[in-house]
Amino acid sequence: MKYIIITYGCQMNVHESEKLAYICEKMGYELTDKREDADLIIFNTCAIREGAEDRVFGNVGALKKLKKKRPETIIAVCGCMTQKEQTANYILKTFPFVDIVIGTFNLPNFEYYINAVKKGRQLEILNEGDPDESVPYKRTSGDNAWVNIMQGCNNFCTYCIVPYVRGREKSRSEENILKEIREIVSEGKYKKITLLGQNVNSYGNDLKTGENFSRLLKKICEVPGDFKLSFMTSHPKDLTEEVIYVIASEDKILKDIHLPAQSGNNRILKLMNRKYTREKYLDIIRKIREKIPNARITSDFIVGFPTETEEEFEDTMNLVREVKFDGIFAFMYSPREGTVAAQMEGQIDEKEKRRRVNLLLQLEKEIQEEKKND
Ligand code: SAH
Ligand code: SF4
Ligand code: F3S
Repeated sequence: MKYIIITYGCQMNVHESEKLAYICEKMGYELTDKREDADLIIFNTCAIREGAEDRVFGNVGALKKLKKKRPETIIAVCGCMTQKEQTANYILKTFPFVDIVIGTFNLPNFEYYINAVKKGRQLEILNEGDPDESVPYKRTSGDNAWVNIMQGCNNFCTYCIVPYVRGREKSRSEENILKEIREIVSEGKYKKITLLGQNVNSYGNDLKTGENFSRLLKKICEVPGDFKLSFMTSHPKDLTEEVIYVIASEDKILKDIHLPAQSGNNRILKLMNRKYTREKYLDIIRKIREKIPNARITSDFIVGFPTETEEEFEDTMNLVREVKFDGIFAFMYSPREGTVAAQMEGQIDEKEKRRRVNLLLQLEKEIQEEKKND
């Protein structure tokens, strides 16, 4: 029996697919890279932008023929898209050959759904999970080991679907994280450990027992062994001087900081509910550069947020010019049903969003060329 997992979205999903892979192999499935050979096909989906969802619909739809030829193949769709009840129901209705539709919190019970499918199609969406549940992983990212330190997000940036599909912030206990890190190090196969969370800087806020991100970083660095430590993602509103200091002073911590700005304009940042200003963002960058001269700073930007004017977009261009990031991701704003921004008046048309994103990407290219020649 063979399985294949098709993963969309962020590193969190990549890591969760490692959990699914563990469960599949424990059940006796072997990995294949061909959908046609698989007895179990899993789509671990992402809901962040419309494009991500469209790709899933297209790829799931394309399995109709395959399922006709091999009706015993089990097809499962899980992750952030199917955490939304409406989308889950839409998939069940539109693709009658899909056997299992579950949300983000159901993954640890994946074995149950596979066994239950004999009795009929499975649909279940839990609304909460335990970030400390202890399903092992089949690590698949070479010499990098992902370690989840928290789930969910409390920030409710007005454009973003994540808080709706990943729930509220829940941190894992320091003890369990350290135990996992010690195990990873003792295996001797991993050179790098990357901590994952939607907003790693708010690690521990929900535990109320003194845990926080800088303390966690320090404790991880104390684990004996030869490894490098990295993390993503940092929210600018929560990146403290203490964290900057720890990154600067610990040799084990890589000096890569992904710090999504999203926009360079204060009115738009406010509408996005980002809780910092352009000035505050630049201030953090200045502090990072001062304390960590070799820092590699990267960022994310959204263009064409509702009501964004040409001048406000120019503020984003200027921020990128000013900071000269070591890399940026630029996205066209994509309205997500159920979020505040999707309801806002003044949605920008696709063509204009595309024009702006191309300008930003062009600028980014020029900056990277310039940096290469420096
Ligand atoms: N938790 C992380 C990022 C999560 S999503 C953070 O807060 O930075 C990754 C990136 O996708 C975001 O930084 C943002 O730039 C982009 N993104 C999120 N929602 C989007 C939307 N509705 N349209 C376009 N891009 C979006
Ligand atoms: Fe989304 Fe904002 Fe949370 Fe990041 S911080 S996951 S952009 S709501
Ligand atoms: Fe996508 Fe879910 Fe990550 S929406 S970006 S896979 S948290």
